Amino acid sequence: MNVLVIGSSGQVGSALFKQSKSTPWIKNVFGTYKAHLRPGLVHLDLQDPRSIHDAFEKTQPQAVIHCSALTAVDYCEDHPEEAHRINVLGTEQVLKACQKHGARLITLSTDYVFDGKNGPYGEEDPCRPLSVYGRSKWEAEQRVLTDVGSLVIRSTVIYSYDLSSLNFLMQLIKNLSEKRPMQVPNDQVSNPTYAPNLAEVILRLINKRACGIYHVVGPDWLNRYEFALQAAEVLGLDKSLITPQKTSELNQRALRPLEAGLKTDKVRAELGCHLISVKEGVSLIREAWERETSI
Ligand SMILES: NC(=O)c1ccc[n+]([C@@H]2O[C@H](COP(=O)([O-])OP(=O)(O)OC[C@H]3O[C@@H](n4cnc5c(N)ncnc54)[C@H](OP(=O)(O)O)[C@@H]3O)[C@@H](O)[C@H]2O)c1
Repeated sequence: MNVLVIGSSGQVGSALFKQSKSTPWIKNVFGTYKAHLRPGLVHLDLQDPRSIHDAFEKTQPQAVIHCSALTAVDYCEDHPEEAHRINVLGTEQVLKACQKHGARLITLSTDYVFDGKNGPYGEEDPCRPLSVYGRSKWEAEQRVLTDVGSLVIRSTVIYSYDLSSLNFLMQLIKNLSEKRPMQVPNDQVSNPTYAPNLAEVILRLINKRACGIYHVVGPDWLNRYEFALQAAEVLGLDKSLITPQKTSELNQRALRPLEAGLKTDKVRAELGCHLISVKEGVSLIREAWERETSI
């Protein structure tokens, strides 16, 4: 099978690209970038249908894992048309290209499709996004799900050891190791998710020909402040630099779902998979960080 990972220059896409390369049932893996060129990746811009067409012609995929999006939540709030063009219309173009090539579409989504009033949420719970970003991801989901063979993976607070990523854990490592204090919201509850574990589960779902919506997140349901404290503990960083703050005091442009997070009963029942806890995931990150700094 030829697999095309759109957004392989991003956090989730790079984890999927890497794991796909060592997955026996995948014959060829191709990846795309938009602005951040990495060796071996093909250029694809979701706002340019021609580049989508060219990437599909070049790679002839049977499965397409769509991990590209405008992900900066506050930027989306100030640029709703751009968010719609990239996240909704771009996804629609990818779906059309998949249909033309007879490829299955697997797309990434988020718990920001919910309002965060009574999480964690199951796959069938009604969506009510609070932000432009959340709404664009929800609209994209709906368009993807018009194709019955497609798969939507919702996840949240994804972290990994990736020097080029601004994910929450990398910000924590950078700030605390440079002795910079960090204010972290203590009222945004969710499930931190280790990117390589997410990638592994997504590939198993594809191999099983799963379709519809699946929630794939880590097992701990905790707020960002608790996550930061646990991570700092495992990483041996100074926890006293972290102070709790209410989301309402952060003056962020976009509303966040506060009591969010996702239930994983469906994926656990169907795959019997192991979802990695914060302690396990951050321990693996500590190993990667130690390897890097000992060179
Ligand atoms: N990170 C999270 O905590 C989280 C949580 C829930 C869901 N998700 C979803 O998971 C997916 C992957 O997230 P991520 O954390 O890996 O995001 P990320 O690190 O910000 O990466 C985004 C990717 O999208 C690409 N991209 C951006 N604009 C594009 C455009 N106009 N055309 C083509 N590609 C474009 C980027 O390419 P360049 O960098 O080369 O420009 C990059 O490869 C997204 O759908 C996101 O909504 C993420």
